[in-house]
Amino acid sequence: MRTDFDIQTIHMSSYRTRILTGIKPSGMPHLGNYAGAIRPALASAQAADAENFYFLADLHSLINTHDPARVHRSTLEIAATWLACGLDVEKNWFYRQSDIPEITELTWLLTCMAGKGQLNRAHAYKAAVDKNRAEGEDDDAGVSAGLFMYPVLMAADILIFAANKVPVGRDQIQHIEMARDFGQRFNHVYGADYFALPEAVIDENVATLPGLDGRKMSKSYDNTIPLFCRPAELEKRIMSILTDSRAPGEPKDIEGSALFQLYQAFATAEETTAMRQAFAEGIGWGDAKKRLYQRMEAEIAPLRERYDALIARPDAIESILQDNAHRLRERYAKPLLEKLRDAVGLRNLSAVPVSAAENTREKTAVPMFKQYREQDGKFYFKLTLGDVLLLQSRGFDSPKEAGQCVAALKAGNTQGLGQDFVLADGQTPQALADALAYFAQEPS
Ligand code: TRP
Repeated sequence: MRTDFDIQTIHMSSYRTRILTGIKPSGMPHLGNYAGAIRPALASAQAADAENFYFLADLHSLINTHDPARVHRSTLEIAATWLACGLDVEKNWFYRQSDIPEITELTWLLTCMAGKGQLNRAHAYKAAVDKNRAEGEDDDAGVSAGLFMYPVLMAADILIFAANKVPVGRDQIQHIEMARDFGQRFNHVYGADYFALPEAVIDENVATLPGLDGRKMSKSYDNTIPLFCRPAELEKRIMSILTDSRAPGEPKDIEGSALFQLYQAFATAEETTAMRQAFAEGIGWGDAKKRLYQRMEAEIAPLRERYDALIARPDAIESILQDNAHRLRERYAKPLLEKLRDAVGLRNLSAVPVSAAENTREKTAVPMFKQYREQDGKFYFKLTLGDVLLLQSRGFDSPKEAGQCVAALKAGNTQGLGQDFVLADGQTPQALADALAYFAQEPS
């Protein structure tokens, strides 16, 4: 491993944790998005002594939105939403993915590190395949390569800025693990710590809001309250929240009450206690809804006002995004890509030719199994690391037996294989374990 030079600033002691939040533009956000994602993301940014990166994942939105006007509109709306909700552009990065071409360039470098088999197992792609199978369609019917490559683009989003922490929902954990894998693979293959490896951060306390019908608030259930609908519309939707038939004066359950949960998501602890009390004392549903409306409107009204002002000035938003992208490219993205291009060998042809030392340096040596047949008619394999022999097998009667033994070793399973191979002179079980670890990362 080459460790004699410092990639990015990740080794500097003044380094602050980097937290990166990706925002996929997909239509007008609703209160569930606000309470479950936007508000907590902004609150934790203020709490942490961190360098925060927020970006609009507009390239990702092209995977499922092929309507240009909608892509355009959603991007504006989601940008205005986050700004209106308090994203402070003096203290945080706020940019648009498609303004940083180094992200797409890095996507290709990572694509060449990504195992196709690993991408086959990505949830979103697998779900599409499973659906096709259930419907008797071809596995990949209607599946774009964009959907298939989703995790690689996402890995580039994360790795380009050496993000350490990525707050995500549970459905995204697998993507973060893939980003780690691709980054680790690159570091291993090219022999240095080019990438910091990110961690998913799951906030257990984040509210999942119920929708108007009591199920989880979600566009697909058509039970949402749009974050910035007009006050009259907000009131109308709140009035339509499903309740039971208990009359005023009858005590009401807070358990399972969508109304109560919505109230709680917007109220202080004291206000919540008071509402719990009111439920027990039999507040009428109409009155409870009125209180909920007032509480929500109190929080949302100032945000809505800012939102309206922002939406009316798209040029101001545009210039924030462009300014951020420009500075991020100069400070981080361009210098990193320069290093990566050099690392992989995309180099100026007049530069000093590759030295023999680099050609044979340890980093290019990956462990390899070789299977062959000897004069005695038996089937053998050996494991090498560059020119070094790590182990030598016994002779097997069939290539299949030898292959099974190789497969077991690759799976990290050395149990019971004691008779099947010997370590080469000077090799240790630890050296073997290190070499086999390489295959454990390799997607099969
Ligand atoms: N996949 C994320 C989502 O669906 C959005 C996203 C894209 C993202 N790139 C990212 C999230 C990078 C975190 C980091 O919500």
